[in-house]
Amino acid sequence: MDELFVICDVREVQEEEVRGFTLARLGAGGTEPWPILIARKAGRLFGYENVCPHGGGRLDTVPGEFMDEEGNFIACGKHKAMFDLDTGHCFIGPCQGQQLTKIDLIIDEGDVCITGVPLTDEDGLDIPDPDAHPEVMIAPD
Ligand code: FES
Repeated sequence: MDELFVICDVREVQEEEVRGFTLARLGAGGTEPWPILIARKAGRLFGYENVCPHGGGRLDTVPGEFMDEEGNFIACGKHKAMFDLDTGHCFIGPCQGQQLTKIDLIIDEGDVCITGVPLTDEDGLDIPDPDAHPEVMIAPD
Protein backbone atom coordinates (compact mmCIF):
# COMPACT_ATOMS: atom_id res chain seq x y z
CA MET A 1 0.00 0.00 0.00
CA ASP A 2 1.21 3.52 -0.79
CA GLU A 3 2.28 5.82 2.00
CA LEU A 4 -0.50 7.81 3.67
CA PHE A 5 0.02 11.53 3.97
CA VAL A 6 -1.85 13.10 6.89
CA ILE A 7 -3.54 16.40 6.08
CA CYS A 8 -5.33 17.09 9.37
CA ASP A 9 -7.32 15.62 12.21
CA VAL A 10 -10.95 14.91 11.22
CA ARG A 11 -12.09 17.28 13.99
CA GLU A 12 -10.32 20.19 12.31
CA VAL A 13 -13.02 20.37 9.64
CA GLN A 14 -16.33 21.19 11.30
CA GLU A 15 -19.78 20.31 10.02
CA GLU A 16 -20.82 22.55 7.10
CA GLU A 17 -17.33 23.97 6.80
CA VAL A 18 -14.75 24.06 4.03
CA ARG A 19 -11.07 24.39 4.88
CA GLY A 20 -8.21 25.02 2.54
CA PHE A 21 -4.76 23.45 2.85
CA THR A 22 -1.67 24.04 0.78
CA LEU A 23 0.35 20.89 0.30
CA ALA A 24 3.57 20.49 -1.65
CA ARG A 25 3.54 18.20 -4.64
CA LEU A 26 6.52 16.99 -6.61
CA GLY A 27 6.07 18.08 -10.20
CA ALA A 28 8.29 18.08 -13.26
CA GLY A 29 9.97 21.28 -12.10
CA GLY A 30 10.39 20.22 -8.49
CA THR A 31 8.24 21.07 -5.50
CA GLU A 32 5.13 23.05 -6.30
CA PRO A 33 2.31 24.29 -4.07
CA TRP A 34 -0.84 22.19 -4.30
CA PRO A 35 -3.88 23.92 -2.80
CA ILE A 36 -6.66 21.56 -1.80
CA LEU A 37 -9.88 21.88 0.18
CA ILE A 38 -11.71 19.58 2.52
CA ALA A 39 -15.43 20.04 3.14
CA ARG A 40 -17.70 18.36 5.64
CA LYS A 41 -21.44 17.78 5.36
CA ALA A 42 -23.63 15.30 7.26
CA GLY A 43 -20.52 13.73 8.75
CA ARG A 44 -18.99 13.02 5.33
CA LEU A 45 -15.72 14.53 4.16
CA PHE A 46 -15.06 15.64 0.59
CA GLY A 47 -11.73 16.56 -0.96
CA TYR A 48 -11.06 18.64 -4.06
CA GLU A 49 -8.23 20.62 -5.55
CA ASN A 50 -8.73 24.23 -4.53
CA VAL A 51 -8.74 25.48 -8.10
CA CYS A 52 -11.73 27.16 -9.70
CA PRO A 53 -12.43 25.88 -13.23
CA HIS A 54 -13.40 29.41 -14.24
CA GLY A 55 -10.39 31.51 -13.39
CA GLY A 56 -7.87 28.82 -12.48
CA GLY A 57 -7.20 30.42 -9.10
CA ARG A 58 -8.12 29.41 -5.59
CA LEU A 59 -11.78 29.33 -4.59
CA ASP A 60 -11.15 30.93 -1.19
CA THR A 61 -9.90 34.32 -2.30
CA VAL A 62 -12.78 36.11 -0.56
CA PRO A 63 -12.81 35.48 3.21
CA GLY A 64 -16.01 33.84 4.45
CA GLU A 65 -17.26 32.90 0.98
CA PHE A 66 -15.86 29.38 0.67
CA MET A 67 -19.31 27.85 1.16
CA ASP A 68 -22.89 29.01 0.71
CA GLU A 69 -24.70 30.39 3.77
CA GLU A 70 -26.60 27.14 4.41
CA GLY A 71 -23.45 25.03 4.25
CA ASN A 72 -24.67 22.96 1.32
CA PHE A 73 -22.29 23.91 -1.48
CA ILE A 74 -18.67 24.85 -2.09
CA ALA A 75 -18.46 28.39 -3.41
CA CYS A 76 -15.94 30.43 -5.31
CA GLY A 77 -15.85 33.87 -3.77
CA LYS A 78 -14.54 35.58 -6.87
CA HIS A 79 -17.52 35.25 -9.25
CA LYS A 80 -19.91 33.25 -7.04
CA ALA A 81 -19.78 29.87 -8.77
CA MET A 82 -21.39 27.08 -6.70
CA PHE A 83 -20.24 23.46 -6.67
CA ASP A 84 -22.01 20.32 -5.52
CA LEU A 85 -20.27 18.74 -2.53
CA ASP A 86 -20.69 15.14 -3.72
CA THR A 87 -19.49 15.58 -7.28
CA GLY A 88 -17.69 18.94 -7.50
CA HIS A 89 -20.02 19.78 -10.38
CA CYS A 90 -20.59 23.52 -10.92
CA PHE A 91 -24.33 24.06 -11.20
CA ILE A 92 -24.40 27.86 -11.24
CA GLY A 93 -21.88 30.53 -12.16
CA PRO A 94 -19.53 31.30 -15.02
CA CYS A 95 -18.10 27.75 -15.09
CA GLN A 96 -21.48 26.02 -14.98
CA GLY A 97 -21.16 22.43 -16.21
CA GLN A 98 -17.49 22.11 -15.29
CA GLN A 99 -16.08 20.24 -12.29
CA LEU A 100 -13.66 20.59 -9.45
CA THR A 101 -10.92 17.95 -9.45
CA LYS A 102 -11.79 15.36 -6.83
CA ILE A 103 -9.25 14.05 -4.32
CA ASP A 104 -9.89 10.69 -2.67
CA LEU A 105 -9.60 10.98 1.09
CA ILE A 106 -8.75 8.18 3.47
CA ILE A 107 -9.68 8.36 7.15
CA ASP A 108 -7.06 6.59 9.23
CA GLU A 109 -7.29 6.57 13.02
CA GLY A 110 -8.92 10.00 13.15
CA ASP A 111 -6.68 11.56 10.53
CA VAL A 112 -7.71 12.78 7.10
CA CYS A 113 -5.14 11.39 4.66
CA ILE A 114 -4.43 11.09 0.98
CA THR A 115 -2.29 8.62 -0.85
CA GLY A 116 -0.92 8.05 -4.33
CA VAL A 117 0.27 11.64 -4.78
CA PRO A 118 3.99 12.47 -4.60
CA LEU A 119 4.11 14.97 -1.73
CA THR A 120 6.95 16.52 0.18
CA ASP A 121 7.06 17.92 3.68
CA GLU A 122 7.94 21.40 2.50
CA ASP A 123 5.17 23.58 1.08
CA GLY A 124 7.62 25.63 -0.96
CA LEU A 125 5.71 28.81 -0.18
CA ASP A 126 7.79 30.27 2.61
CA ILE A 127 4.57 31.22 4.45
CA PRO A 128 4.97 31.75 8.20
CA ASP A 129 3.36 29.13 10.43
CA PRO A 130 0.14 30.75 11.77
CA ASP A 131 0.44 28.74 14.98
CA ALA A 132 3.95 29.92 15.65
CA HIS A 133 4.31 32.45 18.43
CA PRO A 134 5.48 35.87 17.30
CA GLU A 135 8.96 36.80 18.28
CA VAL A 136 8.85 39.40 21.07
CA MET A 137 11.64 41.86 21.49
CA ILE A 138 11.94 44.04 24.56
CA ALA A 139 13.81 47.20 23.79
CA PRO A 140 15.17 49.57 26.41
CA ASP A 141 13.60 53.05 26.59
S1 FES B 1 -12.79 32.51 -10.60
FE1 FES B 1 -14.21 31.19 -9.62
S2 FES B 1 -16.12 31.79 -10.43
FE2 FES B 1 -14.69 33.06 -11.45
